Amino acid sequence: MRFTPFDLVQWQSRYEPTVDYTLADSSCRPVELRDFLDETQVARLVAGAQHYPEVRGTPELRRLVAGWQGCRPEEVVVTVGAAEANSILAGALIGPGDHVVLMEPGYRQVWGLAHNAGAKISVVGLDERNGWRLDVAALESAVRPDTRVIAVTNPNNPAGSVLTAQEMAAVVAVAERNGTWLMVDEVHRGTELDTDEVTTTFWGHYDRLVCVGSLSKAFALPGLRVGWIVATGDLLDELCRRHEYATVSTGLLAMRIAEAALTTPYRDRLLDRNRRLMREGRQLLLRWAEAHPDLVSIVAPTATALGLLRYRAEATSLEVAHALRRRGGVLVAPGAHFGADGHLRVIHSLEPGYVSAALDRVASVLTEGVETGDPPTR
Ligand SMILES: Cc1ncc(COP(=O)(O)O)c(C=O)c1O
Repeated sequence: MRFTPFDLVQWQSRYEPTVDYTLADSSCRPVELRDFLDETQVARLVAGAQHYPEVRGTPELRRLVAGWQGCRPEEVVVTVGAAEANSILAGALIGPGDHVVLMEPGYRQVWGLAHNAGAKISVVGLDERNGWRLDVAALESAVRPDTRVIAVTNPNNPAGSVLTAQEMAAVVAVAERNGTWLMVDEVHRGTELDTDEVTTTFWGHYDRLVCVGSLSKAFALPGLRVGWIVATGDLLDELCRRHEYATVSTGLLAMRIAEAALTTPYRDRLLDRNRRLMREGRQLLLRWAEAHPDLVSIVAPTATALGLLRYRAEATSLEVAHALRRRGGVLVAPGAHFGADGHLRVIHSLEPGYVSAALDRVASVLTEGVETGDPPTR
């Protein structure tokens, strides 16, 4: 079986060091610890001995994650980012020949893990003409009695859309009807742009359900590498065993900082800071797109630090992204890495001057034009 690499992450690590500007990331402008920790917190951090932490995460962090997810602390396993969470989850739930249903455009970690496990994959498209809404009828016809897993990302990366209550209910109903596992990636919860209400979690809506979360997006702490899984029963036990193999545990220092990030008043300060930056960032991106209707169009995202631009050039998203990197010195994420060719994903919530300068370069290259077959295909 051919190994499927994680193209998006490979793209970022390969080209980020080579450009002047990178809009390929997906976390709101990362926060500096000194901007949210006070002296009491810092004193607490430097005082602790660096022993091996509890495998499932510190009790305090699991209590705080439980508060964020609306679950019980015993149901939480802290992982090295959502990346580890998705990885051990896919290992536990998806095997050779299993049928997996995924939504696209989508963050293709579970997609790639499912390919590498030898699973059979059906993709349900989100409808761009309908504001990237889920096509519930398409989901219903994709899921079969033997479907092992439905994987959902809510809010969605890269489209920045959020499922409605009706869509969530439809996803749960179709899973329930077939006894299918629901793997829900809620890493972008807390990045809502039109409301201060955090997106409703799927947790508690169904028995065969697992949720994944992280501090990388709404809390702008991607460097901490702190994520989690919420699960119950035998699956929870198996995930702990897999976590012991993969990493033993998340770093103690990272977990201590995560505890602070999820504690009032730090938690609210972080969420407020990031909401402000993301709302300003979205405004900037939408204005830029409006000023260049001949080059791009966009469905306004309702969550995340991201925008998914449809470009007008007659070239693949890899060709366009390579041209932007080579001729413009700007790294964007090609839509092909999300199952959305014809699009480019950009982050809008970095320093506004930086984003504007990078978008100006994007406009210049797109105005000059991109030739089909110009740059390499990978
Ligand atoms: C939907 C989704 N899931 C998982 C991840 C991985 O997150 P983490 O930084 O917590 O490993 C990302 C990061 O971009 C993401 O967008």
